[in-house]
Amino acid sequence: MCGIVGYIGNQDAYPILIKGLHRLEYRGYDSAGVALINPHGQLNIYKAKGKVSELEKFAEDKDISGHIGIAHTRWATHGEPNQVNAHPHFSESEQLAIIHNGIIENYALLKEGLMQHGYTFRSTTDTEVLIQLIEYTQRTSKTDLRTAVQLALNQVVGAYAIAVLDKQHPDTIVAARKGSPLVVGVGDNEYFLASDATPIVEYTDKVIYIEDEEIVLLKKGEEPQITTISNVSKTPEIKKLEITLNQLEKGGYAHFMLKEIFEQPQTLRVSMRGRVNIDRDCIALSGFIDNRERFLNAKRIIITACGTSWHAGLIAMYCIEEFARIPVEVEYSSEFRYRKPVINKDDVVIAISQSGETADTLAAIRLAKDAGAFIFSICNVVGASIPRLSDSGCYTHVGPEIGVASTKAFTAQVTALIMLSLCIGKEKGTLDNESYLRILRELGNIPDHISKVLQQNDRLARFAQMFTYAQNFIYLGRGYNYPVALEGALKLKEISYIHAEGYPAAEMKHGPIALISQEMPVVVIAPHGSTYDKIVSNIQEIKARQGKIISIVTEGDTQVTEMSDFCIPIPKTEECLTPILSVIPLQLLAYHIAVAKERDVDQPRNLAKSVTVE
Ligand code: M6R
Repeated sequence: MCGIVGYIGNQDAYPILIKGLHRLEYRGYDSAGVALINPHGQLNIYKAKGKVSELEKFAEDKDISGHIGIAHTRWATHGEPNQVNAHPHFSESEQLAIIHNGIIENYALLKEGLMQHGYTFRSTTDTEVLIQLIEYTQRTSKTDLRTAVQLALNQVVGAYAIAVLDKQHPDTIVAARKGSPLVVGVGDNEYFLASDATPIVEYTDKVIYIEDEEIVLLKKGEEPQITTISNVSKTPEIKKLEITLNQLEKGGYAHFMLKEIFEQPQTLRVSMRGRVNIDRDCIALSGFIDNRERFLNAKRIIITACGTSWHAGLIAMYCIEEFARIPVEVEYSSEFRYRKPVINKDDVVIAISQSGETADTLAAIRLAKDAGAFIFSICNVVGASIPRLSDSGCYTHVGPEIGVASTKAFTAQVTALIMLSLCIGKEKGTLDNESYLRILRELGNIPDHISKVLQQNDRLARFAQMFTYAQNFIYLGRGYNYPVALEGALKLKEISYIHAEGYPAAEMKHGPIALISQEMPVVVIAPHGSTYDKIVSNIQEIKARQGKIISIVTEGDTQVTEMSDFCIPIPKTEECLTPILSVIPLQLLAYHIAVAKERDVDQPRNLAKSVTVE
């Protein structure tokens, strides 16, 4: 969490930094701040509680001049979100300033040591401890800033992406990373620095991804110098950015979330391009082809992820077991990494992450890698930490997902996992050719089917108005659509703040049915498929208790439709592909309820898009 941005060059730094912060606001938005060295050599810091717009208001009448600066948007970990705890933080002498994304775990111990040397602290953050430590090291070792940063980081336990300014050296930024992302943009006699490439893309398409435990020295007019925290020099590797500027704008939609929901027909076309070949009747996933034996010999597949990505993993359990007949375990990364799991060398571990930076998923794959398992990742952000640590993988290529609620990333993750399970099943011979061909051809129809579901947007928007009163929602599904029930509930709670639970429909009678009353909307995902008759009985049990039924059904359905108070049809498709369609109305329902309740849809309270802390 937290977004960091920096600039050094000949342009005014402030507008670049503020624009960068807006782009990174999805990473945290409880306070923001900026540090600038003005042309007279003064180091000015301005900070405000709340969103970046509050910082802009605060800085309106301030000196915002300077061609070098760093800025931060915060998602609080240590210390409440207020102006004092906002970044940047000054060092004791106010010669240095720092921004930080991550957590310094041993900050209490370091702070105690610094206090014994007479240091005082203005904030309650771990970050201020780090800048004091850097200053203390700089003073006592009589060394330059880069070396001081290096020596200080050697004493730190935790995760960080940092950038440091030194008033004495107004032509230099020192930055470093371990566990939190950091990208350098290489311009014409100027450098940009950011947590991801979104603040950089409009200025340059040349970037350097800083690796864990690397420190980069950016000096105007000089090449970037990279060294590790053990002081080994590295050669910077410049890469070309793949994202474009218009992917970062709302394009006429009221919110990024709505834009991203509507992009899904196109994003899935891109995700499948060059992979699903209808003319040749085959699916080609290079990450699978190059590591065919690892998959075919796997005794078990472990899927690890968080949140929405975990729901995609749960759907994969159904299709991998059905098509490839390999046992699958789906693990919350946060539990997996700490529960001493049994991992074997012939296990395949699939990590799923939109951002590719989720701290728990990253830690889970490190653990699995150390145990000798083969790591395959499904990520969206190209060049992120998880794909870089993996042995192989598959990018979803849906472009930047900016709304905090994941939508287009989910449908692409499910699509990638279905493609993978079809590839394994075909190669293993556990999936008959006829089924393989039927499903792969139907994959090609999915984007058009989604477009059809999206045509119900206005109807869903009107319908959503009726549910702003609800305090609770239940979502029910079976088989492939049980994870969709979980996902629908997560979407609703995270953006509308209405309490919602997802259940396998048959579990209702083991407890949750006690909650059913006239006030309780129950969303039932009941497309035609192997569990249709069973879910019909489950709906009857709810009807008998006056629950309000909102159903997702296959076009032409009559049975569930007749029992429902509101019904959303989706096109007929293969059972394993129904989640990609059935989730769309749930995304729209959550969106419209949240809008009707005047929630901050793209930046819901307490959340951040990229969860880089445990
Ligand atoms: O970037 P990741 O896919 O690893 O993120 C995992 C979760 O934090 C994420 O899916 C979260 O649950 C979303 N806000 C859900 O909409």
